[in-house]
Amino acid sequence: MAPAPNLVPSSRASAMAALGMLLSYDFWRMAVLWTLALICSHFHLLLTACFPCILHWHHRSRFYPRCRFSSAPDSIIKRPVCVVTGASSGLGAAAARALAFQGYHVILVGRCLQLLQKTIGEIKQQDNDASLSVFEVDLSSFSSIKKFESGIKQWLLDSNLHPSIQLLINNAGILATSCRVTSDGYDQMMQTNFIGAFVLTNLLLPLLKFSPVPSKIVNVTSFTHRCISNTDLNEGTLGAKIFDCLPTSGSYPSARTYELSKFCLLLFSYELHRQLHLVDPSLNISVMCGRNPNYAGDSSNHL
Ligand SMILES: NC(=O)c1ccc[n+]([C@@H]2O[C@H](COP(=O)([O-])OP(=O)(O)OC[C@H]3O[C@@H](n4cnc5c(N)ncnc54)[C@H](OP(=O)(O)O)[C@@H]3O)[C@@H](O)[C@H]2O)c1
Repeated sequence: MAPAPNLVPSSRASAMAALGMLLSYDFWRMAVLWTLALICSHFHLLLTACFPCILHWHHRSRFYPRCRFSSAPDSIIKRPVCVVTGASSGLGAAAARALAFQGYHVILVGRCLQLLQKTIGEIKQQDNDASLSVFEVDLSSFSSIKKFESGIKQWLLDSNLHPSIQLLINNAGILATSCRVTSDGYDQMMQTNFIGAFVLTNLLLPLLKFSPVPSKIVNVTSFTHRCISNTDLNEGTLGAKIFDCLPTSGSYPSARTYELSKFCLLLFSYELHRQLHLVDPSLNISVMCGRNPNYAGDSSNHL
């Protein structure tokens, strides 16, 4: 009879790892600070729901109502096109489903074709007429995003749709627990959550601007940006912080890197919107943030 495997060292190692996690700075940062940030976000939502005047005072800029597309035969846009990144699961898949039901042609973007096809199958089960297509894109790779740009341009030309995009949802995101460096030399979480969305948006901007009806960019941020407390943030310090995510030694600052990536995405959203309207105030393109985790379910308010 083969001797029973000695489980003691591995269970002891697992117990030590669990204890190490409980005692880690990241764990307590997520448990305490993120909970406070979430409560703060919900309090803000409640306040603006009860007193809408606060919302108008807070956002004094132009209000961008949701654009409903007409399917009239003479309409230029027969079917609006929407790109959803990270559409193979979670909020991205839910947003893709909700938009497909509303008549969009949804382009599902993700790293794994099989998972994307599975999502398509699930949507088709509920609505066989849903208009969907998939593209395999790794947002933590510049070359993959560039390949997607040329792929989608060609795809639009080959389709019978208007060669423009009406909605881009930068949803893909990860919460990594260890540091991985991408082939472009960045921290993988920072490149997926922020740099990839930045590059993709800039490459797809001409297609969004070319839309004959108002177009929209939705960046899925997070309540955790509230945990970024350094008030001395400028272009230089922020750039340095992005590179600081790559630790030379010691443990990986997982929680802080996630918060920083979402904070950068939030700043990018505000700045892009400001710059677009500074150049051309009549431009019919808006940039907004989806901070509420149920943005996909309540798409009528957010998209
Ligand atoms: N869930 C929440 O409570 C919550 C709260 C606030 C904000 N958010 C944000 O909401 C977004 C979606 O969250 P979720 O909970 O739905 O997460 P999820 O279920 O893990 O989905 C993340 C998606 O991103 C994709 N993805 C990851 N890395 C990618 C890469 N390099 N290139 C392309 N796609 C990539 C994943 O696809 P593959 O792995 O198959 O490639 C997956 O489809 C994230 O940005 C997250 O930060 C979530």
